[in-house]
Amino acid sequence: MPQPFRSLVILTGAGISAESGLGTFRDKDGLWTRYSLEDVATPEGFVRDPVLVHDFYNARRRNLIDAAPNAAHAALAELERHWDGDFLLVTQNVDDLHERAGSQKLLHMHGELLKMRCENCGQVTSWTGDAAPDSICPVCRVQGYMRPHVVWFGEMPFYMEMIFTALQRCDLFLSVGTSGTVYPAAGFVSEVRQAGRAHTVELNLDPSDGHSLFAEHLHGPATEVVPRYVTRLLQADTPLV
Ligand code: APR
Repeated sequence: MPQPFRSLVILTGAGISAESGLGTFRDKDGLWTRYSLEDVATPEGFVRDPVLVHDFYNARRRNLIDAAPNAAHAALAELERHWDGDFLLVTQNVDDLHERAGSQKLLHMHGELLKMRCENCGQVTSWTGDAAPDSICPVCRVQGYMRPHVVWFGEMPFYMEMIFTALQRCDLFLSVGTSGTVYPAAGFVSEVRQAGRAHTVELNLDPSDGHSLFAEHLHGPATEVVPRYVTRLLQADTPLV
């Protein structure tokens, strides 16, 4: 199927999972209005009160188990299946809704809620139940060194080299459901603009902090604007711009 673009990078944030019932961070009833991020999303907070941090992620893990992917996750998985060219989905989200919707060419730059990492042996293992300071590593069997496999503020996100290479090469960059306030992800659109070859589209409920950096905007709920744009993209045999 002819398509106007060859190399696609998509960035998603909490907004794509909002209609699946998972909270966003900075909206009016967002997670950071109910928790202090310094207490539950920093290495210092974990050292200070590991029980509070484990309980924070335990509650989000339980919430995730009961959630389901929505039409926006499904639309991005369909786009990947039909895309003829380079495709990369980079998510800031730690939920597994993209995977459950069928996305495969996916990088979790902020880690994954359903995984834990052992600070003794370094191994990352799947973890769907609750965790606690005395949790035992399933690999090295040592107790007391397990932490959520999630990137906290002040830590380096994962896969940055692969992501920047894809951003330099892409000719279409979509940003879905993110406020554009947290770097390095908030700077991806500027990376793409500097490379000078890509069309940039923001698909978000409201204009994000970085909205002026995008060439095109579709504002509305992800379950409406994402399927609509994916249909346009897959049907277009002439450039959309
Ligand atoms: N459809 C589309 N967009 C939505 C919807 C929806 N139904 N609901 C909310 N949004 C938009 C909001 O308008 C907002 O711009 O999603 C965005 C959510 O922004 P944040 O809560 O800041 O989440 P995100 O951008 O993913 O945060 C980035 O910050 O706290 C860290 O590590 C955390 O990965 C997270 C990062």
